[in-house]
Amino acid sequence: MIRVGILTSSDKGYAGERVDESGKLIADRVKEIPGEVAEYILVPDETEAIKYSLIQMTDEMELDLILTTGGTGMSPRDITPEATLAVIDRLVPGIPEAMRAKSLEITSRAMLSRATAGIRKKTLIINMPGSKKAVDECLDVIIPVLAHAIEILRGEGGECGRKDSTPAT
Ligand code: MTE
Repeated sequence: MIRVGILTSSDKGYAGERVDESGKLIADRVKEIPGEVAEYILVPDETEAIKYSLIQMTDEMELDLILTTGGTGMSPRDITPEATLAVIDRLVPGIPEAMRAKSLEITSRAMLSRATAGIRKKTLIINMPGSKKAVDECLDVIIPVLAHAIEILRGEGGECGRKDSTPAT
């Protein structure tokens, strides 16, 4: 089973001024990977809090996958991509490229997300925007490839040329 951590980065959510519907949506859809939610953390838009949580879920908990939501835009407090870049060992640029490309078919505002993705040790970390709608749309793009991505990351020798490798929808 793929063990998933959810990290919501939101000043308002952390202050209790907003319900974290995006984090809840991720939790609801993790079964589609298929995976299970092993951890959920809500932090303010603070670099050190995000870095600490990511390191906790990678180095201590050794989760397979961390899905973050929020803090990918251009407001002065949006620093999730920078915090992620500070902790990853290797970039996986194709994932945010695909999320933006497919999302641009829905809204031109998709280009405003600076989301990144990368690997720390054996954990894949993927940023998504903060709104519930954006999370839903981005999950539609990435969920079909996540099981294969984790298989490769674990060194389980997944077969990349399988017939069930489908084009992005
Ligand atoms: N991506 C998708 N698929 N759908 C959306 O509605 N919203 C965009 C963008 N990405 C959006 C999206 C908007 S309006 C912003 S400002 C950026 O994500 C950054 O969002 P964030 O600051 O909440 O992370």
